Amino acid sequence: MNLNQNINLLKLAIKYRKITLTKISHWLNKKFFKTNSFPKLVRFFLFYGCNLRCKMCGQWGQKGTSKSDQIKNFLNIKKLKQLIDECAKYNPEIYIWGGEPILHPDFAEFIKYLKTKKLICTINTNGVLLEKYSDDILKNKVDSIDVSLIGTKEIHDFIVQVPGTFGKVMSGLNLIYEKSKNYKYKPLIKTIITLNKNNINNVENLLQEIEKNPAIDMSILQLGWFTNEETGKRYEKRMQNEFNISATSWQGFQNEQIAQDAEKIQNLIKKIRKNKLYKKPILIFPNLKTKNIAKYYQNHQELFNYKKCGAVNREIDIRHNGDVVICADYPDYIIGNLNSQTIKQIWQGKKLKLFRDSINKKLLPICSRCCGIFR
Ligand SMILES: C[S@@+](CC[C@H](N)C(=O)[O-])C[C@H]1O[C@@H](n2cnc3c(N)ncnc32)[C@H](O)[C@@H]1O
Ligand code: SF4
Ligand code: SF4
Repeated sequence: MNLNQNINLLKLAIKYRKITLTKISHWLNKKFFKTNSFPKLVRFFLFYGCNLRCKMCGQWGQKGTSKSDQIKNFLNIKKLKQLIDECAKYNPEIYIWGGEPILHPDFAEFIKYLKTKKLICTINTNGVLLEKYSDDILKNKVDSIDVSLIGTKEIHDFIVQVPGTFGKVMSGLNLIYEKSKNYKYKPLIKTIITLNKNNINNVENLLQEIEKNPAIDMSILQLGWFTNEETGKRYEKRMQNEFNISATSWQGFQNEQIAQDAEKIQNLIKKIRKNKLYKKPILIFPNLKTKNIAKYYQNHQELFNYKKCGAVNREIDIRHNGDVVICADYPDYIIGNLNSQTIKQIWQGKKLKLFRDSINKKLLPICSRCCGIFR
């Protein structure tokens, strides 16, 4: 990042200091490899279905493994409040995602409840419904919003495969920005830009638009998770042998072509990192050296010295139906279900211990391109 970006990141870190403190605590947690008595980060995979079909998405994209018969299966507000009550005793960070989380019928009540319990929360959304819920977000003082933007208007709408989406996201962001003046409160708004073959040539134009948009504070340029058949099959075999389960989620992220764009993406990142005109922080995730970016796509098993999964000691993902997993993007190994257990029971239970021991000895083949090792 250039000097302006670093200064602006520091300003944001001070303005949103509660979020900053949670990030520092997660980092220390991974560094000292500590297992906590309760997860530090609780993710709610709030709603399984989605109103978009982003081509690169492992859930609802071209290779996506999501199944329509699950859409009506979600936790009711009574159960969600009970889970928040349990969380409130331990004060973890809350991350709300999906599918599209804002489609949950009790989304507004859920965020209101968790904010009355003073939990720090981020909503990861495709932004289509931000306009409708702008007051709920502002009056409840949601801490942060991760909104997906994949390109400028035409490219974004082409990738998400629903015309008019970009316009809706922008209207939602603008409304939040305008109303924030009356509420005297604005959440931290980050755009998540997931790189894929359809937006490589467009990302710089998008970043220029973001620079001019007062609603957006910063961007995460996500290099993308992907896998290949050879790795996927090895993962399946290990999960079958060790845990006796059929683990097929990797298929949603299968991408055998991505290496073709490796050099192009490396050049793009080089240009973005050198460009002094960008003043808003742009974090590349995973945060690799520019010279390693091509290798990230060409050599799927290269770990760049990231040797541990931070998620196993720190995070859980509560699925739409109450199942609990560690691997949010690869939700094959279920460590418990909240319809019959508490979060703490699952966190301290046998199934997670087995998984932790296994991962701590040797990472899974799919871990090499998963957020668990890079955060
Ligand atoms: C799966 S979506 C769920 C939340 C919400 N529907 C959204 O799009 O923000 C979460 C994030 O994953 C990103 N994503 C989609 N496909 C991805 C991939 N193959 N690798 C990494 N991130 C991906 C999306 O761009 C989005 O920012
Ligand atoms: S909006 Fe999110 S969940 Fe829906 S298809 Fe796009 S990336 Fe996937
Ligand atoms: S790094 Fe591996 S073990 Fe950790 S969350 Fe990702 S897939 Fe799961």
